[in-house]
Amino acid sequence: MQAPPPERRFAAELDALRAEDAGRRPPGWLLSPQQVVRFIVGGGSAGGVEISAKFVGDRALVERAVVTLAGQRGLLLVGEPGTAKSMLSELLAAAISGTSALTVQGTAGTTEDQLRYGWNYAALLAQGPSPAALVPSPVLQAMRRGALARVEEVTRCLPEVQDALVSILSDRRLAVPELGDEGVVEAAPGFNLIATANLRDRGVSEMSAALKRRFNFETVPPIADLQLEVDLVHRQTVAAVQRAGEALPVDLQVLTALVTAFRDLRAGRTDEGWAVERPATVMSTAEAVAASTSLVLQAGWFPERGGPASLLPEHLLGVVLKDEPKDRARLIAYFDGPVKRRAERDPTWERVAAARGALIDG
Ligand SMILES: Nc1ncnc2c1ncn2[C@@H]1O[C@H](COP(=O)(O)OP(=O)(O)OP(=O)(O)O)[C@@H](O)[C@H]1O
Ligand SMILES: [Mg+2]
Repeated sequence: MQAPPPERRFAAELDALRAEDAGRRPPGWLLSPQQVVRFIVGGGSAGGVEISAKFVGDRALVERAVVTLAGQRGLLLVGEPGTAKSMLSELLAAAISGTSALTVQGTAGTTEDQLRYGWNYAALLAQGPSPAALVPSPVLQAMRRGALARVEEVTRCLPEVQDALVSILSDRRLAVPELGDEGVVEAAPGFNLIATANLRDRGVSEMSAALKRRFNFETVPPIADLQLEVDLVHRQTVAAVQRAGEALPVDLQVLTALVTAFRDLRAGRTDEGWAVERPATVMSTAEAVAASTSLVLQAGWFPERGGPASLLPEHLLGVVLKDEPKDRARLIAYFDGPVKRRAERDPTWERVAAARGALIDG
């Protein structure tokens, strides 16, 4: 399996946490709030199983998210692309409900059926509306089971479709009128919603006020600390290279330069205080992992190209050049400013700067 869900990937950790959990669990939850947070941010070992750090960032944010989910409002994780909103929502669902699979992926084509219920038309025609003909959405399944449902990219759905969630969140009940009295599903304890929204797509601004009021918003920021981001990109690069069936070396100096470049371009400013013109593209941690992995594989498979530092500029260009042709000029300006200055005193940056030619068109 290319990407097992967290409840499977971290099954041993979850079992160990459950076994040692002495805390009080909110109704319908598999773990106490304290152990949910510990599962996500990592911490010590439980019954000999190390609890790994998964989400890197503000512990208080994770605590607030957990508190929200125990209450009567949904949780909406908002932020720039690639800030681990989806990952965090999967981890929360895996820890609290034991499954992250009750998910609706929001798109412009998402219909109300996908948030409420649909019908199996063959069964409907044969026997009329009956529970057997009902096709429950992941949200309805979560209500029945008392589990968390996830709605990814909720703001990509049309606002009137999003609004199907209003009554679910406020009444905690979903009526299927065709089934009469039998058709009223009351949410079991433990049910709640986690939605994610990306600030770059269709914005949260178009969400109805009614729906906004039923969510607690949490903004997930990019990783604040350079060293934490370097460590994360390093860990994930090593894992991705392994998944490609390779045991190639990861040059930590080059990886640090790559992450530093991402941060400079993201922030519009370097740690030295030099101004940088920001490209329109998002320079996310997730993209840094992808670029760093490609860099390691290319340097290993095609060594005649001169090693990872020489390959860095072209991989950076691949990330930067997506939305706007002008971003190429911005990246070149970054090379002619900060990169050039660093190259005067740092051999890694010197090798990076020497490959500036890869940025020039044609
Ligand atoms: N703070 C972080 N802690 C751990 N991993 C992170 C962090 N930020 C980014 N990542 C990495 O980025 C990957 C992408 O995250 P994810 O897909 O969850 O982002 P997202 O915010 O949902 O993005 P999008 O808005 O594009 O859907 C994660 O799987 C992880 O590898
Ligand atoms: Mg996402």
